[in-house]
Amino acid sequence: MATQKRILVTGGSGLVGQGIKAASEADKRSDEEFIYLCSKDADLTDREATKAVFKKHQPTHVIHLAAKVGGLYGNMRANLQFFRINSAINDNILSVAQEMGVKKVVSCLSTCIFPNETTYPIDETMIHNGPPHDSNYGYSYAKRMIDVMNKGFNQQYDTEFTAVVPTNVFGPFDNFNLEEGHVMPGLIHKVYKCKENNTPLTVWGTGRARRQFIYSKDLGRLFLWVLREYKETEPIILSVGEEDEISIKEAAEFVAKGFDFKGDFVYDTTRSDGQYKKTASNAKLRKYLPDFKFTPMDQAIRETCEWFTANYSTARI
Ligand SMILES: NC(=O)c1ccc[n+]([C@@H]2O[C@H](COP(=O)([O-])OP(=O)(O)OC[C@H]3O[C@@H](n4cnc5c(N)ncnc54)[C@H](OP(=O)(O)O)[C@@H]3O)[C@@H](O)[C@H]2O)c1
Repeated sequence: MATQKRILVTGGSGLVGQGIKAASEADKRSDEEFIYLCSKDADLTDREATKAVFKKHQPTHVIHLAAKVGGLYGNMRANLQFFRINSAINDNILSVAQEMGVKKVVSCLSTCIFPNETTYPIDETMIHNGPPHDSNYGYSYAKRMIDVMNKGFNQQYDTEFTAVVPTNVFGPFDNFNLEEGHVMPGLIHKVYKCKENNTPLTVWGTGRARRQFIYSKDLGRLFLWVLREYKETEPIILSVGEEDEISIKEAAEFVAKGFDFKGDFVYDTTRSDGQYKKTASNAKLRKYLPDFKFTPMDQAIRETCEWFTANYSTARI
């Protein structure tokens, strides 16, 4: 009989955590039990609280998502806090996991932590090759140190700590706050309002910046594969292909379609575009999983718009 796995998902109430929940419920295994944590279960910046929650649940595996997460504007306002809070959470999770005998931890990096000046497409080998974009250096350096710690723990304690690198995630349970959130949930919230008020859509920036977006439910399916099958310490980029990168203007058009919004678009060029592009290669992922099928963009965005409309009163806005 397979050994029973108790998988603790930190940050389980958030966008990515709920994507993993949806994926695990669609692909149930009798040897797996998932425990989803939110910040009310334990403040993971606090080492004693972290220890207590590990003692309570006795996990054999951890998916580590908990983080202070924000969009471009949220990051620019608070780089120091993004660095300190995320560094504390990551250090607590990895060191307590090792002390408590957890064999495998899958942590979450992001393509926005890669060097600002780089060649494209970016791949897994380039994470530490130069300073990140100045808008989010705090978040980026804290995330990069997870990769450093994974190597150290695996070398010194024979653990199987690794990390994944998603591109921009969107889906149900996202943070749809207009000031703090990411571009896709921001667009969804704005188009919802514009349709309601019959006003034009104001897109922040020129609309020319380009991004790869991954649907949280697809990311959830890929996370489960990493947890079950992936053996490397080195991170793996979880993304749609380079050919699926779209401009912010195209993203806004998908959202307009998702809500059947027919109004005008206005571009507020006093707002920063952030990094022009961050094209990531999913060649490593494709080597492992050549046949993985991503949800088509229009379907994924339509489902998210429908979720937002149905959950407007309780969503994070
Ligand atoms: N969103 C993206 O586009 C994206 C892209 C690449 C990588 N990632 C990474 O994916 C992971 C999950 O992000 P997400 O987008 O799902 O974020 P999210 O929706 O904001 O969720 C964050 C999660 O972390 C928890 N959390 C925050 N501070 C905590 C603390 N001090 N103690 C305990 N739990 C805490 C939150 O709990 P509460 O719900 O109780 O607040 C929530 O469950 C993060 O590591 C992020 O860096 C995200």
